[in-house]
Amino acid sequence: MLKRLMLGTVFTTLLSFQTHADQSVEVLHWWTSGGEAGALNVLKDDLSSKGVSWNDMPVAGGSGTAAMTVLRARVAAGNPPTAVQMLGFDILDWAQQGALTDLNAVAKEGNWDAVIPTALQKFSKHEGKWIAAPVNVHSTNWIWSNKAILDELNISEPNSWDDLVSAMDKVKASGKVALAHGGQPWQDATVFESIALLTGGGDFYKKAFIDLDEETLGSDTMKTVFERMEVLRGYVDDNFSGRDWNLASAMVINGEAAFQIMGDWAKGEFLRANKKPGADFLCLRVPGTQGYVTFNSDQFAMFNVDGNQTESQAQLAKSILAPEFQSAFNVVKGSVPARTDVSDAAFDECGKKGMKDLVEANDNGKLYGSMAHGHSAPAAIKNAFYDVITAHFNGEFDSETAVAELVDAIAIAK
Ligand code: BGC
Repeated sequence: MLKRLMLGTVFTTLLSFQTHADQSVEVLHWWTSGGEAGALNVLKDDLSSKGVSWNDMPVAGGSGTAAMTVLRARVAAGNPPTAVQMLGFDILDWAQQGALTDLNAVAKEGNWDAVIPTALQKFSKHEGKWIAAPVNVHSTNWIWSNKAILDELNISEPNSWDDLVSAMDKVKASGKVALAHGGQPWQDATVFESIALLTGGGDFYKKAFIDLDEETLGSDTMKTVFERMEVLRGYVDDNFSGRDWNLASAMVINGEAAFQIMGDWAKGEFLRANKKPGADFLCLRVPGTQGYVTFNSDQFAMFNVDGNQTESQAQLAKSILAPEFQSAFNVVKGSVPARTDVSDAAFDECGKKGMKDLVEANDNGKLYGSMAHGHSAPAAIKNAFYDVITAHFNGEFDSETAVAELVDAIAIAK
């Protein structure tokens, strides 16, 4: 009897060891900057507390361009990762190809339909099935500034394009860098979409980047957007080319530069450097875009892999949507929760503003998907925007030519 009991215990222990050992996820992502890694640790720790171990597959490169190339290679080799950080139209593209796991059971249990905003559901559901778990909502129409520099130069919050130009003139005259920028196509496009929103307003943004309306793409307003990019080009330093976004944030953090136009993942870098919103840095909406939110949401899509990993995929999806986790993670990441029912109590003033702006923009029809971050059109179109914007920013085309090139490039990519 005793022997049988002991054998039973050994067997159960082995069985639970077996289950435990299977509980792992390999996650492909591009969260490699200091702030991003800090946020990722919140997720890793949360999963590890639930007995799921993390197999890290980081691919550096803001906005995930490089990560998506690695993903395609992994899938082509028949070896997809368990879970992948993904944006907008890329998720729908993989779903269309039948590559993603059905998360309906977890979604039903967690009542995702009721708590995840419909603007996100558009990218997390395909043909009625949940195929991705949204972890956050970022927005791109922010300008980050070094408060000490603004105070020293007597610069008040810029509220229009002209304000912004005169503020940048003052900074440039003082010998500091006015605009911290990294010359990479996705960063050029991130600045471009904000300047487009500031210049043409919401309808223009929607017609150009979401509807891909030819007349709007070829309009005089679009030419003004390109001309304004040329003006901004005059405020970046000589070493901007190829610089990573977080190094541009570091220039504002260190007091080398006054401004950076960047999504709110930049806040993660400021916090990581122990800087306080309102005291050390300011999070302002890009002048003229207050009321609007251009958003992107990081989601985790699960690939169809061996049957024994579906349990850990479900656990990952469930953990991502837990309200306490949504708060803890987004406080560090700089984004806001992907659920409508999470309190803003733990968030700093920038986070509180981000949450409020999101609700208002959504209520007022002023919430638009970010072109630069895969939420306004599929990748081929996004890349066509990138090509023209970057070529123009680097002086290959004048603004008039850029407009004509843009019309052609989008027509071909469609
Ligand atoms: C992602 C952010 C990320 C940023 C820079 C964006 O596309 O949504 O999570 O921090 O790229 O890498």
